[in-house]
Amino acid sequence: MGERPTWLATAARGTEPILARELRALGAEDVREESGGVAFAGRLELALRCNLRLRTANHVLLRLASFPIAGPDELYAGASEVPWEEHLTVRSTFAVFAHGRAEGIGHTGFAALRVKDAIADRIRGRKGERPDVDPRDPAVRVVVHLASRSASLFLDTSGDSLHRRGYRVAQTEAPLRETLAAALVLWSGWDRRRPLCDPMCGSGTIAIEAALLARGRAPGLGRRFGFQRWPAFGEVEARAWRAMVQEAREEAAAGDSPVPVWASDVDRHAVEATRANAEAAGVAPLLHLAVADARRFDPPGPSGMVLANPPYGERLSPGARELASLYRALGRSLRPPGWVTILLSGHPSLPRLFGGRPTGRLPLRNGALRCELLRWETGGERRED
Ligand SMILES: C[S@@+](CC[C@H](N)C(=O)[O-])C[C@H]1O[C@@H](n2cnc3c(N)ncnc32)[C@H](O)[C@@H]1O
Repeated sequence: MGERPTWLATAARGTEPILARELRALGAEDVREESGGVAFAGRLELALRCNLRLRTANHVLLRLASFPIAGPDELYAGASEVPWEEHLTVRSTFAVFAHGRAEGIGHTGFAALRVKDAIADRIRGRKGERPDVDPRDPAVRVVVHLASRSASLFLDTSGDSLHRRGYRVAQTEAPLRETLAAALVLWSGWDRRRPLCDPMCGSGTIAIEAALLARGRAPGLGRRFGFQRWPAFGEVEARAWRAMVQEAREEAAAGDSPVPVWASDVDRHAVEATRANAEAAGVAPLLHLAVADARRFDPPGPSGMVLANPPYGERLSPGARELASLYRALGRSLRPPGWVTILLSGHPSLPRLFGGRPTGRLPLRNGALRCELLRWETGGERRED
């Protein structure tokens, strides 16, 4: 691996500035926001640290090559130039995942196939044998990004998406991705001292991410990563990794702040799911849980923060009139004086029905859904976004 490889951390569209801030704080260099990700430079050790500590990234990818293409033949030729034998042995399993769209390439499955052929042919040409493809559980994941007339090839250091922290043992309908919930908490600018409440907590993702942050617990503690199965991940890298994990464990053990995080939901099963997930995440003792109606929200203090994603009617579908009356009622209950309210909304009418003038807005994507983070401040507090 060269002196200073370049990387791409991927994230929900719209959250790139939040991820860029996280990356700078970890010491990444040449940080550059792209659509759906942030490019940066740094050594392998930084990428390992990013996997362990980034809260808003979904994958950390090692950039191997970027080149112009006019069709599948150029893609094959460009992929054949990459020294795959440095990353794969004939005994490694691998899989290729392609995203995006490029001229002359009908569908991503075909692009993945051409790159897979280029890898297999190159390694067979040099070693006499080729590694096997295992689309379900590959040791090495190759990612292809197609963009109009160019292609970029990456190795996925993360493996499973980083939003899979390992604590989601109980599901509810329409859960938020952990990485998006973390983006919401970071965007809020929560000071980790005043109460933070999610009065529509569902499976508890926002409250759990807030508690993990306040505890200083690295989100990747307790899961495995793609790079741990790479043939190139030798004893030297493994030692550095173990030291990094140990350091993160010690930080988490030292963080003993009595974090005031409240989570409630009108649905008893949702509160039970939050409890189970919080226990799996090791933050259950930090959460105050209750079954309660957000329309009668009782703020636990003179100032604090409400963070929630109310039902939008896309995946959860109360009737339109019911939803409108819920939003109006929430507009009255969730903006107590002295409090900051932040909602992730997927419904274009929510700001109007909720009332008041938002002091901050951030458009973003929740999967394929166009959403918006909205911020209201009631009672003098201001913050630059
Ligand atoms: C989009 S889901 C929240 C998902 C959650 N952020 C998660 O990660 O799982 C909306 C939640 O609002 C809850 N809800 C709907 N009306 C409510 C009300 N009046 N009071 C409290 N919770 C309510 C639903 O039960 C549901 O769990």
